Amino acid sequence: MAAPPPACGSTPATSAPQHTCGRGTMFLWALFLVAMTATYLSVHSFVDTSSRYFAASWGGLHWERQIRASASPRRPPGSAEGAGLSVLVTGAAGFVGMHCLLALCKRGDGVVGIDNFNSYYNPSLKKARRALLGSHGVFVVEGNINDGRLLAKLFDVMPFTHVLHLAAQAGVRYATENPALYVHSNIAGLVSLLEACKGADPQPAVVWVSSSSIYGLNNRVPPRSRTTARLRLRLRLWPRLCPPRA
Ligand SMILES: NC(=O)c1ccc[n+]([C@@H]2O[C@H](COP(=O)([O-])OP(=O)(O)OC[C@H]3O[C@@H](n4cnc5c(N)ncnc54)[C@H](O)[C@@H]3O)[C@@H](O)[C@H]2O)c1
Repeated sequence: MAAPPPACGSTPATSAPQHTCGRGTMFLWALFLVAMTATYLSVHSFVDTSSRYFAASWGGLHWERQIRASASPRRPPGSAEGAGLSVLVTGAAGFVGMHCLLALCKRGDGVVGIDNFNSYYNPSLKKARRALLGSHGVFVVEGNINDGRLLAKLFDVMPFTHVLHLAAQAGVRYATENPALYVHSNIAGLVSLLEACKGADPQPAVVWVSSSSIYGLNNRVPPRSRTTARLRLRLRLWPRLCPPRA
């Protein structure tokens, strides 16, 4: 009768089976490690993606209903002031944004705001402004104008007729301390918004106020259009950004 093969770990009869068994075990361990690493990576990326999905503060049927309710004009088409507009206001929780939203809302226009509630000015002040707007039926989305997916979704949910662009990193002196923030919100953010407007159907008219203060060292009030390059740019862009509407 043939002798049974030696079990791994038992004393081998010869050296050859020991090598075979050792290599086989190492191969199995290597395979096991590769499988574990692959599993870890795929689970990790799944958890990462889903946590980002669940952490998003926008989206869903209820959110879309809030957008439509807030953005639908309340002025009847036959009224003396003409049909109501549907306006997306960026920088809605800011000083100028909140007042513009209230004024448009009182005129009977439909409005939705967007703001990232950054901490340059006190965020609790911005939250209080959002609460005040909410009491007038105005919905403010917490989000960034650099978020192309969010902007596309907003235009998908509501065919805005106008965009009033006020979101910006404010403060002239702070720009020398943190220039990247200005590039992010005032330049990249503007481009992101214009790209979203370009892709929207129908395309909204865009009103861009300014990327920041324009006073400079100028003593002349009001400033002349030759005073600063930024003002010149603003005036040059104005007709292009606000094409006459039929
Ligand atoms: N208030 C003034 O005296 C004055 C003067 C000149 C120009 N401006 C310009 O008018 C506009 C509004 O001014 P304001 O006084 O209301 O400023 P503000 O700082 O009160 O409001 C701007 C809002 O934009 C938001 N914001 C910034 N970056 C954003 C981003 N990436 N995505 C979404 N939201 C973002 C901020 O959270 C803030 O609530 C700005 O463009 C500002 O530069 C204001």
